[in-house]
Amino acid sequence: MRTYKLALIGFGNVGQGFTQILRDQSESLAQRFGAEYKIVAVCDKLKGSLYHPEGLDPALLLDTVQAGKSLETLKTEASGWDAQETIAGCGADVLVELSYTDLETGEPAASHLRQALKAGMHAVTTNKGPIALHFPELLKIARENHVQVGIEGTVMSGTPTLHLGLDLLAGAEVQKIQGILNGTTNYMLTQMEQGISYGDVLADAQEKGYAEADPTGDVEGFDAAGKVVILANVLMGASITLNDVEREGITGLTVDDITAAQAEGQRWKLIAGVEKTPDRIKASVRPTRLAVDHPLASVGGPTNAVTFTTALLGDVTLIGPGAGRLATGYAILCDLISIDRITQ
Ligand code: HSE
Repeated sequence: MRTYKLALIGFGNVGQGFTQILRDQSESLAQRFGAEYKIVAVCDKLKGSLYHPEGLDPALLLDTVQAGKSLETLKTEASGWDAQETIAGCGADVLVELSYTDLETGEPAASHLRQALKAGMHAVTTNKGPIALHFPELLKIARENHVQVGIEGTVMSGTPTLHLGLDLLAGAEVQKIQGILNGTTNYMLTQMEQGISYGDVLADAQEKGYAEADPTGDVEGFDAAGKVVILANVLMGASITLNDVEREGITGLTVDDITAAQAEGQRWKLIAGVEKTPDRIKASVRPTRLAVDHPLASVGGPTNAVTFTTALLGDVTLIGPGAGRLATGYAILCDLISIDRITQ
């Protein structure tokens, strides 16, 4: 049995979703893959930090935070470490970086990732900030230190968009990517079709764990723009930044706009896209009215969809969950299984 010690930086929706998967699936993962995963450290600014070299019980971690208690109320070998001390002292094999997303600086996640990779730990993240801004640098550090960086959950949560693009479409030459890349806004637009107000559906999306800690990033289109940057840079060899994405969110749309479109057989969707032309990369995020029989018009709720237009295969479309605790927690598992396969 191969054992992987994990350190989780951040224990919000995604960290808890992933921990729930380990709580419920550890035995079956061990049987199916011959690998076991032990959380040896958790560090969260609000919920507390703790470390135990033999591993922390996932059920106990979840029960503690769900009861509103600090993790530091649990008895362990050490507690109260900050992120830097956790990475330096935990002896983990993999850093699972799930701290707050900052699309302007990528911090503090980028520093956590650099520190872990330089210390010879693999790193897995669902955090778009450091990947949209610093992926080439992080990949270089990982290669120099002979470790892996997993980024599957940065786009379309656990729906394996980046593995599909990087591994399976690698030879097909991706020329254009278009889709619905933000679960929160797609959920909101779908609910608003039922006449529910913008404010109510936003609160509902936050409650369900789809929205970012600051939902401005979702409704103003920054989250989808960050994902477009990642897709362009990771899959199309571009080196664009958020400033290169023409961006408009859904804050200008009202229930009246949505019902007016419905009356004309159309639906509003927040469409994100990136296209390679001979001389440039064109990237955008904008609300778009689609005919109801357009393939993307039927993608409702927090579901995302992406169509890769390739030179050799034509169009390849992937539809699946784009947000949510378990769906994004699954992305971590997907990257961990991939690291296990690559490094065996
Ligand atoms: N807030 C994001 C969304 C989460 O709604 O799609 C997944 O990146």
